[in-house]
Amino acid sequence: MPSLPSSVLVVGSGGREHALVRALLASPAKPRVLCVPGNAGIAQDAACFPVAADDIPGLVALAQHEKVAFVVVGPEVALSLGLVDALAAAGIPAYGPKADGARLEASKIYTKEILLKYRIPTAAAAFFDEAAPAIAYLRARPAPIVVKADGLAAGKGVVVAQSHAEAEAAVQALLALRPASQISNLRSQILIEDCLTGEETSILVVVSGRDYVILPTSQDHKRIGDGDTGPNTGGMGTYSPAEVVTPALLDQIDREIVRPSVNAIADEGIDFRGTLFIGVMLTPTGPSVLEYNTRFGDPETQVVLPRLENDVLALLWAAATGTLRGTTLKVRPEHALCVVIAAKGYPDAYPKGDVITFPAPSSGVTFIHAGTAKNAAGQIVMNGGRVLGVTALAPSLPQAAANAYAACDALQCASKYFRRDIGARQLQRR
Ligand code: AMP
Ligand code: GLY
Repeated sequence: MPSLPSSVLVVGSGGREHALVRALLASPAKPRVLCVPGNAGIAQDAACFPVAADDIPGLVALAQHEKVAFVVVGPEVALSLGLVDALAAAGIPAYGPKADGARLEASKIYTKEILLKYRIPTAAAAFFDEAAPAIAYLRARPAPIVVKADGLAAGKGVVVAQSHAEAEAAVQALLALRPASQISNLRSQILIEDCLTGEETSILVVVSGRDYVILPTSQDHKRIGDGDTGPNTGGMGTYSPAEVVTPALLDQIDREIVRPSVNAIADEGIDFRGTLFIGVMLTPTGPSVLEYNTRFGDPETQVVLPRLENDVLALLWAAATGTLRGTTLKVRPEHALCVVIAAKGYPDAYPKGDVITFPAPSSGVTFIHAGTAKNAAGQIVMNGGRVLGVTALAPSLPQAAANAYAACDALQCASKYFRRDIGARQLQRR
């Protein structure tokens, strides 16, 4: 294996990137770790630079100026805009797919076409670019039914409609999203697909061409409210392992979904080197693909990386340089649980600027920063919808939950909001 890079630049500013920075700093290779643009917590751990995560020429120029040996890309927008292509052209290795691979997240229709072509389990779907045939189609299907915008929509492009009336309204609303879509998608369509039932699990796979390793399982909590109520968010908490994915089920997911997906992507001519994050619904008739993401999950990363004994720098470098084959993962037996602290009001309008006072450190608990900044007085303040991830690693899930929630309660911040039931499903199952 080529020797490990002496410096690594992480692109992004969320909890995912803070977790990546922490994991890379823990590498025995002791790399210099930089981040762009980062946040107030990342700035305590790594040098941060004020370049936006979608400014492709600016990012390449920074990587060259700082002579970084390796770039790890967090957000999907940078990938879709071709950051990894631009870095490759400048001779800088990076972890993350090129724009052709990022399309698997940027276009739900493209992904659905691949899933159907390679007979990978997924919900039946049809595509439309006009309202009338879309409405005729959905009236002939049973409700609930799911309407999705094709392009990246930051979590706002999916409506699980409980009635036909709701689905028809969603068709109109999502067709109207077109001009706002940031990644230009000339076809500008919507998908209508059958509604699947079951528990969801996040399967994160480190891919390098046809080689891959499956990271520890996790489960996200996407809705804002306890008991999975209210609007969808980026993710309000996670835990790992997700015991609902038994070893036998993981084996089935590998055989029926992961291996066929990795091969399909390679057969399509894409040299994918990065994270393939497969959203899987565990339906009564077997696991089924909800979506592909082409990056680490947030907050999944906050619970998955701390459970790896492997050198994360070596793992990502191997994937980026095509030397992943033969890599095996060593996973800690401990349970990890992450509670996301959001600003009251998220995912709609929310305040910024509230000062955050952190409790004394407690063992096994880490504060991963997402939407934080420093004010003029040097205090850490809320600066985004999802503010922090309070992550606990403990011998059991109940212990991890107790430790994380004790820290959430002790943390002071006027408009903090968090769900009280992260991990509840697995705790009740026991
Ligand atoms: P996606 O971005 O495609 O993963 O959709 C976001 C969320 O919508 C998923 O995490 C699911 O909770 C839900 N969802 C998407 N597709 C379906 C489906 N076919 N059936 C039921 N729920 C779905
Ligand atoms: N937590 C879900 C995502 O990262 O898309």
